[in-house]
Amino acid sequence: GAVRLTDYAPAAWTVEHVALTFALDPHATRVTARIRFRPNPDAAPGQGLWLDGEQLELVSATIDGTPVSPEVSAEGLSLPASALPAGGFDWEAVTVIDPASNTSLDGLYMSNGMYCTQCEAQGFRKITYYPDRPDVMARFHVRIEGDQRVKLSNGNPVASGAGWAEWDDPWPKPSYLFALVAGDLLSHDDSFTTASGREVALKIYVRPGDEDRCAYAMDALKRSMDWDERAYGREYDLDLFMIVAVDDFNMGAMENKGLNIFNSKYVLASPDTATDRDYELIEGIIAHEYFHNWTGNRITCRDWFQLCLKEGLTVFRDQCFSADQRSEPVKRIADVLQLRARQFREDAGPLAHPVRPTEYVEINNFYTATVYEKGAEVIRMLRLMVGDAAYRQALDLYFERHDGEACTIEDWLKVFEDATGRDLSQFALWYSQAGTPRVAAQVDYTGGTLTLTLTQEVPPTPGQPVKAPMVIPVATGFLAPDGSDAAPAQVLELTAARQVFTFEMPERLVVSLLRGFSAPVILEMARTPAERAFLIAHDSDPFNRWEAARNLATDTALAMAADPDLPADPALVAALATLAADESVDPAFRALALTLPSREALAQESFQRGTAADPDAIERALTDLATAVATGGAEVFNDLYDRYATPGAYCPEAGDAARRALRATALGYITRLDPRGIAAGTLFGAATNMTESLSALSLLVREDAPSATAALATFYERWKADRLVIDKWFTLQAMASPSGVALERARQLAGHADFDWKNPNRFRALIGGFAANPTAFHRADGAGYRFVADWLLKLDPLNPQTTARMAGCFETWARYEPGRQALIRAELERMAAEPGLSKNTREIVERILGA
Ligand code: ARG
Ligand code: ZN
Repeated sequence: GAVRLTDYAPAAWTVEHVALTFALDPHATRVTARIRFRPNPDAAPGQGLWLDGEQLELVSATIDGTPVSPEVSAEGLSLPASALPAGGFDWEAVTVIDPASNTSLDGLYMSNGMYCTQCEAQGFRKITYYPDRPDVMARFHVRIEGDQRVKLSNGNPVASGAGWAEWDDPWPKPSYLFALVAGDLLSHDDSFTTASGREVALKIYVRPGDEDRCAYAMDALKRSMDWDERAYGREYDLDLFMIVAVDDFNMGAMENKGLNIFNSKYVLASPDTATDRDYELIEGIIAHEYFHNWTGNRITCRDWFQLCLKEGLTVFRDQCFSADQRSEPVKRIADVLQLRARQFREDAGPLAHPVRPTEYVEINNFYTATVYEKGAEVIRMLRLMVGDAAYRQALDLYFERHDGEACTIEDWLKVFEDATGRDLSQFALWYSQAGTPRVAAQVDYTGGTLTLTLTQEVPPTPGQPVKAPMVIPVATGFLAPDGSDAAPAQVLELTAARQVFTFEMPERLVVSLLRGFSAPVILEMARTPAERAFLIAHDSDPFNRWEAARNLATDTALAMAADPDLPADPALVAALATLAADESVDPAFRALALTLPSREALAQESFQRGTAADPDAIERALTDLATAVATGGAEVFNDLYDRYATPGAYCPEAGDAARRALRATALGYITRLDPRGIAAGTLFGAATNMTESLSALSLLVREDAPSATAALATFYERWKADRLVIDKWFTLQAMASPSGVALERARQLAGHADFDWKNPNRFRALIGGFAANPTAFHRADGAGYRFVADWLLKLDPLNPQTTARMAGCFETWARYEPGRQALIRAELERMAAEPGLSKNTREIVERILGA
């Protein structure tokens, strides 16, 4: 059944202290838990005891040393109040678990012979019986017995001997932050001195052979620690901070107290094996998990409905960190691209839900773009509205008031109300109303007055047919004819369904609206071609400059998709060529502006404008448009390609990465006119880093160039011993192959000896890569859908979390014409008819079907 926000009640019993002993064994790990329970003064008195527990073999249980016989079910155990000393008691239980057979990668499991854990959200209950809810915070002491060289848990190491190690975590924490790792690992070591002068040992643990690929992650960690001190006044609070890289992991990474566990793809990097994008992701995710130490761990969530309290805030913090380390406008554009591709897509479909959901069947299905990315946007709006200084004051108050507590969104908003005196009751709708607001803007100018009329509408979403108007901050600028800012930019607050703003000005200025993407909304505003060209050339707000180019490209591509005879808009081709050649503009910005909207983005936009998306027409239009841009800008692209090489040793920093991005974009266009891939083939042969090697290879595959097969084979031979690189080899073929060959190739790859489908990274690489190749996935005969559904059904019994997450690939069914809709729904119904389907996947499939 579903869990509801309104059902929250405080735990009857709180935990003062936990002592865990693990006698490790692959198939029979023995866990002894000694838990000191105290009655919760905030709960109704006289209640029994409920402990969550799943897939556990209970060997014994005692209370204050006396054996007890609890009632045990598949979800946990209970004891009546009559069996419990009212003032508190010591519980001791022995359970046996089977980590080697745990394919869900949730709880204690094994990866390449190493023991590791994932407890968020509810994995701890697969380790021992416990009140597995985030508002129960306790101090943990852990003893690990086993012959592994390295045995780790949270907090500080307190003692060890032959075959055992003990850890103590002085900070009370919820069970979801518990972690244990044991294996024959090596560490890459460093240290950090905090602002107050405390020395913190830093260790990144990896499998032998990977130790020379940790330097970048370590550097990013130290920069994160420094940034959190400067930007938020937050120091680290233990003597040791550890990161462990594991190959089998359902998500990106996990912020366990003092012992972060990472998917190895977000830790390990070398110029040979990692791309610029990988480096950027490593930096961002290392920062994200580190920042959780304060926003998540010291202050945690009262219940899982409050997930955005820690995730939205921590994403916002990692976005700001990356913006500071690299280029702020480029980071903003990249974040908005991602928000639109993932969150707007979710908000517009059957899986739409508020930033703070009110109901779930399986909480793991709510680690979504809405909770994370839209949750971050809500905080960004808050900061914009109150200003940077008041934002910092509010955050100081938040840490002061709530340190050590498990909090709610109400607590968070109250801090801002108290620090700034603002009433945030209407703003709070951002947490409860799902759906992307649409804002329409109308500009009129008469007699020295410019009138800006803004209207807003929040579309209906599942369970929420009617919405109230939201608070929408609209950052606005006015441009003089030479492109300079004619008046100071200001933040207009749209709070009603319709609002009129007037501005006195002697001549009509061009309005630049929603600068920096100041709110996560869809802005509708008619622009003349001249106005658009002006904004592309001049807007002093880089986001809007990019946005103007993107809007023109989107309109052009959709018009070409609707009419195969329509030539590409020469104004767009000229604007892109001019921008490409503008040496005053950051190469990374130019690379973004030159990148045409994706097939996926155009499908969504088409649907939003009321036309069923036609994947084949979109593909054709984009190819024609890219060819036109390539032709119109041929000279510029060749010139950029020649001049933007990055001589010298590979450096992952923003400057060089930007040059490589622009050069790869230029090569992408050059290759449109060179379908034999001569230039790409040359780069592939000469590349000295993974970024260039992979971008060249993907162009050869995209064009199905004669040399593609040999290049793929060369690449495979060189990298076949490297799991992370071979993941890329799978992804690239699944995603970049032209629609005519993609399915056949994906089928062959699924039969490849290296397709270790139980490994989530490998499964996502091939099956996820294929589902992200829209023209292949949306084949008119439905074979793409069937291929993916078959694999999801195969993975589901082993790994429900990863399966459910990937089933989201079907959420966009309503965008397409009736034939494809029926084919997608048939696959979903086939999945729903599977009696053994996991609770995770069933919830997603049934919500997509609207059941
Ligand atoms: N808290 C982790 C992070 O955002 C993600 C954990 C996701 N866990 C899950 N079971 N879905 O950094
Ligand atoms: Zn997080």
